[in-house]
Amino acid sequence: MTEPVRSLDARYYTDPSVFAAECRGLLARTWQFGCHVSDLAEPGAYQTFEIAGESLFAIRGRDDVIRVFYNVCQHRAHQLVEGSGTTRVVVCPYHAWTYELTGELRAGPNIKAIEGFDKSTVCLTEVRSEEFLGFLFVNLDPDAQPMEDWFPNARAELSEWLPHWADLKPIQWVDIPERCNWKVSVENYSECYHCSLNHPTFASGVVKPETYDIQPQGMCLRHTTECQSLDDMTYDIHSGFDHYDEYSSWFLWPMFSFQVYPGNVLNTYHWRAIDAENVVVWRGWYSVDGVDDPKIRALAQQDRETTVEEDIHLVESVQRGLKSRGYRPGPLVVDPCGGVNSEHPILHLQRWMREAIDG
Ligand code: FES
Ligand SMILES: [Fe+2]
Repeated sequence: MTEPVRSLDARYYTDPSVFAAECRGLLARTWQFGCHVSDLAEPGAYQTFEIAGESLFAIRGRDDVIRVFYNVCQHRAHQLVEGSGTTRVVVCPYHAWTYELTGELRAGPNIKAIEGFDKSTVCLTEVRSEEFLGFLFVNLDPDAQPMEDWFPNARAELSEWLPHWADLKPIQWVDIPERCNWKVSVENYSECYHCSLNHPTFASGVVKPETYDIQPQGMCLRHTTECQSLDDMTYDIHSGFDHYDEYSSWFLWPMFSFQVYPGNVLNTYHWRAIDAENVVVWRGWYSVDGVDDPKIRALAQQDRETTVEEDIHLVESVQRGLKSRGYRPGPLVVDPCGGVNSEHPILHLQRWMREAIDG
């Protein structure tokens, strides 16, 4: 008899030292979402963001290449840019050293006076980045494998589900604070064992739960299901493209997910861990050219009022429970046949979580 696999010990979700180890390790060597390339439309456009406690900025060069740099001057370490904007060159606010959009040092007041100084030896420190269907991801690990190795085939599949991906722009994004560890929220996202009981609208008016399954694909968890019969759908779906009658999601370990609702509507999840017991889930909705689409707005609103709201209560209750002296981790319900009532994706996730923390 093999022993059942038990859920992770509570300390993984509550201990600030575990969270600190994740910030130093996991966040610094995985692919993390930075910004959408529509924020960097013309040369010189930049956008700052933070990953693993590091301030970074992405900027589009005159050669149209987007580069990501640590947001720190190579003179005496002042921060270079704030927020977002467009600039001709990057000028440090401290002593006005200026950098090209490619990161090379261009000039600085009186730097010619420095004996033996060759300015071509100074350049901003670049960070690995990849554009993934219009989404810019970065990895602080210079030796990281490309995203295709981490998430095999996800890009190709998504481009089939989103034939118009190149024209998509965000129309709405919502920040949802959840009082729980980021892993509680990610686990909740990654199983549908709780769906029929807790998400009546989603389970009876969007997807067909009996067809729901989640399978690993590299470090991606791939959700697939058919949509509900069209008469029962809670919203009017557009049927012009392949896969219009499916719901699919690509969760990219550890903190981002693309999901495509029936009707080829893209929605993204980006988890931003605040501390051991708080996470903010950033939900993005997109339309072609960013035009205001009442159908997408209605779907976003329905989703916010049902699935999202329902999940907040679940994950916050779990976080409180993880701090109970009375909790002993229970077995995961792993059905060898998979399916909606199996927690096999949690098995994979918790293995990745353990490896990230315990090495
Ligand atoms: S620190 Fe940037 S110019 Fe001195
Ligand atoms: Fe849920």
